[in-house]
Amino acid sequence: MVKTAYHNFGKGDKFKEMFANLFGDSVLVQDGEPFKQTNKSIALAFASPAFRNKTVTILSAAVHKKLIPLLSHAAANYIPLDLQDVFRRLAFDNTCMVGFGIDPASLDLDLTTVPFLDAFDGAIEALLLRAVLPRFCWKMMKFLRLGSEARLMSGRTVVYEFVDGLLARLSAAGYDLYDSPCLGAFWTYIRLERESGRDYSLEMIRSSMVSLIMAGKDTLSAALTFFFWLVAQHPEVEAKILAELQGILHKSAKKEEWTFGFEEVKQMDYLHAALSESLRLYPPIVAEGTEAAEDDVLPDGTQTEKGAQVWYSIYSCGRLESVWGEDCLEFRPERWLQNERFVRQSDFKFAVFNAGPRRCAGREFAYWHMKWAAASILIHYQIKMVDKHPVIPKFTIVLSMKDGLLVTIHPRNRDRV
Ligand code: HEM
Repeated sequence: MVKTAYHNFGKGDKFKEMFANLFGDSVLVQDGEPFKQTNKSIALAFASPAFRNKTVTILSAAVHKKLIPLLSHAAANYIPLDLQDVFRRLAFDNTCMVGFGIDPASLDLDLTTVPFLDAFDGAIEALLLRAVLPRFCWKMMKFLRLGSEARLMSGRTVVYEFVDGLLARLSAAGYDLYDSPCLGAFWTYIRLERESGRDYSLEMIRSSMVSLIMAGKDTLSAALTFFFWLVAQHPEVEAKILAELQGILHKSAKKEEWTFGFEEVKQMDYLHAALSESLRLYPPIVAEGTEAAEDDVLPDGTQTEKGAQVWYSIYSCGRLESVWGEDCLEFRPERWLQNERFVRQSDFKFAVFNAGPRRCAGREFAYWHMKWAAASILIHYQIKMVDKHPVIPKFTIVLSMKDGLLVTIHPRNRDRV
């Protein structure tokens, strides 16, 4: 038996085999030394000041040129919107913008069908079926191109065609794929890898791009969808968010425009707390699985053999009375505040972004994105749920609402805000 606890765990070969069709050998499935190296380059790329500055410009433009015009169009024409679909498109566009420097422009006024998004979701669902089917069964279905495996392969084709289209646009614009850090965090990371002696093949670049889209798109959309659903049921929380935003706007040079910039978003402690509380109750990634690379002992003394899989439920961790107290099931942003300032909890207590070496590289960007979008929507509009629309959680890799979140949009009276 090995002495150290839980140090010998990784994604493992079974996971890799299941997900390789979509994610290749990218960071989401890597282990050991290759994972450590990739993880370091990704973390550096996301921490760079250039990335932060780019994020600010991109988020501000996305909110004011796409999101607000769409909501204002829906409000003026009394059109109900599926907020989940809106957030999925917003997150997709922004992840591609900050990552690759290209806007897929999926968030338009007509919400035109985007084949990539549906193909991606279908492919992920098919991949997950592999986790519940016996291995020989999905292998046989793959070989015969049957059922979910046939859907996976056709979805994969659409996904990779999309990624190839992005690469072709960059090449046509004269960019060197291996040396264009100015374009986005993803290219910074590719350059850092190259500087450390790891040249990526085109195949590795493509699967890494798919992994980044996976990491950013659905997580952000789930987080914002569940947040707006919770806020609609808690008018007292909505009132406090509005009071905070109003106070920030009154002190700001952007008061007349009703817009927020970097300095304003930084001051949103109550909103940060409300988003964290929503993530605690509805974590976008509900569970994580890992595999023992060697015999090991878990911190509680449980012995695990090489190849054993250990799954933990992030959803349940956020609802443990022993950790969060008697009111663990209540939506109470105040639990994150001390003297009205947001106080971060340990990653191991609030495991929504994972903890340790596999912690989410996009966490800071995710908070910027969520705060910017939520604040800009709430200051301009009241969001009301459409009566009797069923809200049914759907558990795939990422939590979502089975039938979306149907809402109507109501402009706020500026004089009363
Ligand atoms: C609320 C939103 C988000 C949540 C809850 C979340 C959660 C997570 C979790 C749990 C992991 C660990 C996955 C694993 O163990 O394999 C992860 C990894 C990762 N996330 Fe996020 N994420 C969010 C948003 C984002 C965004 C917006 C991006 C980028 C645009 C991003 C980029 C990444 C990357 C690159 C990794 C792999 C990091 C590495 O292992 O080096 N995430 N995320």
